[in-house]
Amino acid sequence: MIMGISDAASLGPCEVLSGCYSGLFASKKTQLKAPFNPHLKSKGRRAHLQKKSQFLKFQCQKTDGVTEISSEDGNGFWRKEPSTVKNQLLHDDAFQKVLGVDDTKQARRDKKGFCIEDEGWNLLHESIVYYCGTPVGTIAAKDLTDGNALNYDQVFIRDFIPSGIAFLLKGEYDIVRNFILHTLQLQSWEKTMDCHSPGQGLMPASFKVRTVPLDGDDSATEEVLDPDFGEAAIGRVAPVDSGLWWIILLRAYGKCSGDLSVQERIDVQTGIKMILKLCLSDGFDMFPTLLVTDGSCMIDRRMGIHGHPLEIQALFYSALLCAREMLALEDGSADLVRALNNRLIALSFHIREYYWVDMKKLNEIYRYKTEEYSYDAVNKFNIYPDQIPPWLLEWMPNKGGYLIGNLQPAHMDFRFFSLGNLWAIISSLATNQQSHAILDLIEDKWSDLVADMPFKICYPSLEGQEWRIITGSDPKNTPWSYHNGGSWPTLLWQLTVACIKMNRPELAAKAVEVAGKRLSADKWPEYYDTKSGRLIGKQSRLYQTWSIAGFLVAKLLLADPGAAKMLWNDEDAGIISAISFMTDSCSPRRKRGRKPLKQTFIV
Ligand code: GLC
Repeated sequence: MIMGISDAASLGPCEVLSGCYSGLFASKKTQLKAPFNPHLKSKGRRAHLQKKSQFLKFQCQKTDGVTEISSEDGNGFWRKEPSTVKNQLLHDDAFQKVLGVDDTKQARRDKKGFCIEDEGWNLLHESIVYYCGTPVGTIAAKDLTDGNALNYDQVFIRDFIPSGIAFLLKGEYDIVRNFILHTLQLQSWEKTMDCHSPGQGLMPASFKVRTVPLDGDDSATEEVLDPDFGEAAIGRVAPVDSGLWWIILLRAYGKCSGDLSVQERIDVQTGIKMILKLCLSDGFDMFPTLLVTDGSCMIDRRMGIHGHPLEIQALFYSALLCAREMLALEDGSADLVRALNNRLIALSFHIREYYWVDMKKLNEIYRYKTEEYSYDAVNKFNIYPDQIPPWLLEWMPNKGGYLIGNLQPAHMDFRFFSLGNLWAIISSLATNQQSHAILDLIEDKWSDLVADMPFKICYPSLEGQEWRIITGSDPKNTPWSYHNGGSWPTLLWQLTVACIKMNRPELAAKAVEVAGKRLSADKWPEYYDTKSGRLIGKQSRLYQTWSIAGFLVAKLLLADPGAAKMLWNDEDAGIISAISFMTDSCSPRRKRGRKPLKQTFIV
């Protein structure tokens, strides 16, 4: 069933008011009958929080014993599924011991019985941002030690994803639903940078709830949601990943809560289509990968990832699959679905074939012929073998491989980017074999990628002249710091989903254990510095929400691995058979002109 506009009557007051696209997205406080008003800094709020933390304490204790978890916590939707062999394994006592889940009760509590998940949950709830009394997201960081909040006092779309997943896993669905619907309203916001507007369908990087004087009435105020599409962000970077994350979270919300009415709403369907149209629109590009500017994702500043960075491609692929699952089938969307399907096939072929490196592929590249002018070229992108960096010849294990960070004409960025590789596993962009090989590499290179704090954002770091040229001498991105090889605890949750999907949760459990020893004591930093991640990042925020949420999600998923399914995409049989068809037809030996998949679609 698709919800119509008339169903707006069932929405809260903010949602109804924000339904009109013109003017400010605002509502008068006085008009509200919201269930819970945070601006009443009153006993009511305290009582509410107290009640919540009591509830959380109870929950935290319950997660100690995996088998005690029942569908009572609101996640019955997934638990109703028949247990798979994997789930049985994960609920097996011996297996739990390997994961370190059964004996964590003691380990996680200090002498006063303090549990770091309790602390995490309290902090996560304190980071909630309210709009007209309704929870709509979480602030990026609540670091009271830092006087200059910059934009860390905003709700970032990408940062909210682990928060949203944590809330879903706890059965706190409202905040996720509100986040989805309010950010949807921001999608159409008219914003410009020096008279130029971003493409329609772009989701903001972040938004802030501002209290402003009410027009024509000095005595009253109103709250407005103020989005930032990158026009105020450092470096003015466009958040290409926001819309992709939004689609991924929307699907997870439906799967976890069982409430499909949100994704079926007409405005939500339109939002999905707008994102897809923006991503699938024709440009000058020859490749199926999404062409983006530097810093368009988690790494939101200059790091040499302009072009076709892996992270965006993996999120794009995942979002296409999620959207396909949710799009209502109707005549008007047939062309869009066809374009989407074609893109899925072309994208997965391209990444699996050209981004993959392992010892075998390195050998091939090492002996590449160059300057091949022909349709049958083996070295299609004219890669000069000298480009293989010396570190990689040492670093590449015999067993294992990974997807490179970026591919451009005559350029392979051989750095290992974690989020892209992990999300390639989660979305099934990588083959089953490649996914295992990526985890093999992570296992083999544990001391480089995990070391004292999981997980390196990329490996290795840029140094010297390369650092100067590529980062523009960015003092925040010095070697082994921040985006340049820093260690980001938030990546734990993605590592966990990837490991659970590949039935190797013990790897994630090991990383969670490493993080668990320091995160709370170090005040939940945003990132860590140095090659082994031993120091808290020099400009790192403390109490960074996605560090907290990432840890909580990893813990919850290890305790209930079946729930991770709401995040991953299974390998699609149609895509596999199309790819094997393409592998034949794209082989250098194929006859030119045989282009079975070439069709034109109006998007
Ligand atoms: C940094 C990160 C970015 C994150 C933001 C807010 O800019 O690079 O990914 O969204 O902080 O935490």
